[in-house]
Amino acid sequence: MTPPTIRITDVAPRDGLQAEHAIIDTPTKSKLVTLVQETGVDEVEVSSFVSPKWVPQLSDAAHLFSTLAPAKPDNVLYSALVPNEKGLDAALTVNRSARQDHGVERLIDKVSVFTSASEGFALKNTNATIEETLKRFAPLIPRAKEHRLRTRAYISCVVRCPFDGDVSPVQVADVASRLLELGADEIDLGDTIGAATPDTIEAVILEVIDRLDGRATNDFGDPTLTLHLHDTFGNAGACVERALELGVRSFDSSAGGLGGCPYASKDGQRAPGNIATSTLVHAIERAGIPHSIDIEQLNRASTFAQGLIG
Ligand code: HMG
Ligand code: MG
Repeated sequence: MTPPTIRITDVAPRDGLQAEHAIIDTPTKSKLVTLVQETGVDEVEVSSFVSPKWVPQLSDAAHLFSTLAPAKPDNVLYSALVPNEKGLDAALTVNRSARQDHGVERLIDKVSVFTSASEGFALKNTNATIEETLKRFAPLIPRAKEHRLRTRAYISCVVRCPFDGDVSPVQVADVASRLLELGADEIDLGDTIGAATPDTIEAVILEVIDRLDGRATNDFGDPTLTLHLHDTFGNAGACVERALELGVRSFDSSAGGLGGCPYASKDGQRAPGNIATSTLVHAIERAGIPHSIDIEQLNRASTFAQGLIG
């Protein structure tokens, strides 16, 4: 089996813009997605089909996808967050329209559900307990697969929760096991507030890999485990290096380091940004592993992304 190369998902258009006070207009978001997909990433997390009352910044998800449909690249996957079946319905409608209007076989390739390893964050972010979020996903994941969509399952607060404090690796792995039982293709571990150190993230990764038959990749060499780091204390690059040593081959990052979950912010203190794609690329290079990022294009996308935030 050939070991997979690194897979990078740029989450700037979704995780980057969801926390912005200003609402960015759809053509500007479309430009950001286009610039980001030209950097050589494998996947772009374009937007979310969530309640517009909860995240008004991304309420134009369907329109944004429609602007991307005429020029969907073959070599980049598009994904979107869906918290419930209503979100999945919206994603399927987008795909149907793209097929009818532009002959695009599948505009959205993957849908991502999201829950938490901690009850405090699950409630704050989804108005539901962990158990209730899993109940929402039970019909959603098989339906997504019937429509040949890949499914990612995020677990937030894998090291620490802004509301409940420290989270144990076993707590994380228990939620991961439940998501795998529901049929999720990929587990994405979110260090939502950037609390991880190489040692704490190692403990979580090892516990979760244990539930993945001892490997972070599946029988086809595709990554089943992704790491989603935020860079609050400047530890994210070192965490990537440790994760690479442990066999993790899939990472989220954001052009220009945009990001932060609005529901992770506390006492007026804004949640920190995602690991910048440039920081991720440096860590991959330090580990001596090849990657597919075009640095010039990345600089262009990062400058544009940073120009969008106040
Ligand atoms: P709720 O208020 O409990 O839901 O929210 P509800 O079922 O009672 O519905 C309330 C209203 O929302 C209704 O509309 C529904 O139709 C509507 P109304 O009748 O009042 O007009 N609604 C929807 N509208 C559009 N799309 C939908 C949808 N669902 C319901 N899918 C809900 C529950 C989950 C919907 C809400 O809590 C929500 O949308 N939360 C999303 C929060 C969010 O997006 N957070 C950021 C993403 S997670 C993250 O950033 C972490 C991550 O980056 C990893 C990491 O860093 O850890 C992924
Ligand atoms: Mg995040």
